[in-house]
Amino acid sequence: MQTLRQVRSFVLRAGRVTVGQERALKELWPRFGIDYGPAPLDLDAVFGRRAPRCLEIGFGTGEVIGSLAAAHPEADYLGIEVHRPGVGQLLLRAEGAGLSNLRVICHDAVEVLATQLGADTCQEILVFFPDPWHKKRHHKRRLIEPIFVRRLAQVLCPGGILRLATDWQEYAEQMLTVCNAEDQLVSLNPGTGYAERPAFRSPTRFERRGERLGHGVWDLAYTKRDAANFPIAS
Ligand SMILES: C[S@@+](CC[C@H](N)C(=O)[O-])C[C@H]1O[C@@H](n2cnc3c(N)ncnc32)[C@H](O)[C@@H]1O
Repeated sequence: MQTLRQVRSFVLRAGRVTVGQERALKELWPRFGIDYGPAPLDLDAVFGRRAPRCLEIGFGTGEVIGSLAAAHPEADYLGIEVHRPGVGQLLLRAEGAGLSNLRVICHDAVEVLATQLGADTCQEILVFFPDPWHKKRHHKRRLIEPIFVRRLAQVLCPGGILRLATDWQEYAEQMLTVCNAEDQLVSLNPGTGYAERPAFRSPTRFERRGERLGHGVWDLAYTKRDAANFPIAS
């Protein structure tokens, strides 16, 4: 069994939680929240049905997952984020839109994927603008590295889609190298390796900030092979 990374991909800052977010965290958690725990979740039981399932990791304030959940009541959406104000913000969105197809976990996604999510449980996984950790000495904090990508691929259903985006070219190149090296994944863009921006992603707060700083955006998209097609020696 692979051991979990020791260095976290985030530093929890005391960021201000607004009164509204605090109320949401308290009052709406029983409706939308899932506590972190060591046992695998039965996601059909969590959502009360079996439907196509999308996981977003590091959703920030939940602009993407909140609008997707509102636009697609036929699918279920699970978000993981460590930043409490952002979680509170998504809970407010979920309440405002009367969503019943959204659940949230406020915990390190590395641990959640290692313990709470089973293999082949999500049809789509989104990791948009993970912290780029620009400085070389911080690269070890980057979320997208081989062990985590292997776990993402396990959690993804065969034929499912993993979408990544970053506004930092050198991290985009790292994503490309790591994902191309993962046997379970196949790029949907074998030419350049980079994908079109998905039409459903309106610019997030983080992305807009990057645009103001003159950054580009690199999207990547992969699918998971059927188990029968995995290389035998991997
Ligand atoms: C740069 S922000 C981007 C947020 C959002 N995806 C967007 O595009 O606006 C990265 C987010 O990932 C979250 N994050 C980083 N590491 C995480 C982890 N291991 N588990 C869950 N969330 C994490 C951070 O708290 C932060 O909100």
